[in-house]
Amino acid sequence: MTFQLAKQETASKVEMYAHLGAQLRSLLEGERDLIANAANVASLLYHSLPDLNWAGFYLYKEGELVLGPFQGEPACVRIAIGKGVCGTAAEIRQTVVVANVHEFPGHIACDSKSNSEIVVPLVKDQQLIGVLDLDSPLLGRFDDEDAQGLNELAEVFIAACHEVSTTTR
Ligand code: SME
Repeated sequence: MTFQLAKQETASKVEMYAHLGAQLRSLLEGERDLIANAANVASLLYHSLPDLNWAGFYLYKEGELVLGPFQGEPACVRIAIGKGVCGTAAEIRQTVVVANVHEFPGHIACDSKSNSEIVVPLVKDQQLIGVLDLDSPLLGRFDDEDAQGLNELAEVFIAACHEVSTTTR
């Protein structure tokens, strides 16, 4: 299989996320393995979206978030629900956009280059699968359009992984 990453640096964010959605559907087509698909999502986002220093997953396992497939520097492995940006998004099951991570109480600093962050919770059939986490060295990198676009991409990912492995519960 060959897959061509196509950067659209001049497109609007809405167009860019629509394009990424099409790429992601094609990338995940016919594959339902959660880890394999998460790895490809992390790679696609990291290499397509500008100004990221980390993109990846924390998966919900036995009551906490555990590091999953990602691109970027090595990261902390376990995050309790309710802790940090990831644990907060998992607890409230809503996307959390942090313009300046240094002002977020309890932010967990895995990579000193990170200055802003967005975390999208992944929920299927009312069950928490994990979170999608993107970090940027820029302050205020993520806005409502990113939140909307990333939620749509997360839906594509969740729909592709029809069976969540029991080890992620
Ligand atoms: N900053 C996150 C931890 C994960 S890293 O950014 C990869 C947090 O506060 O939950």
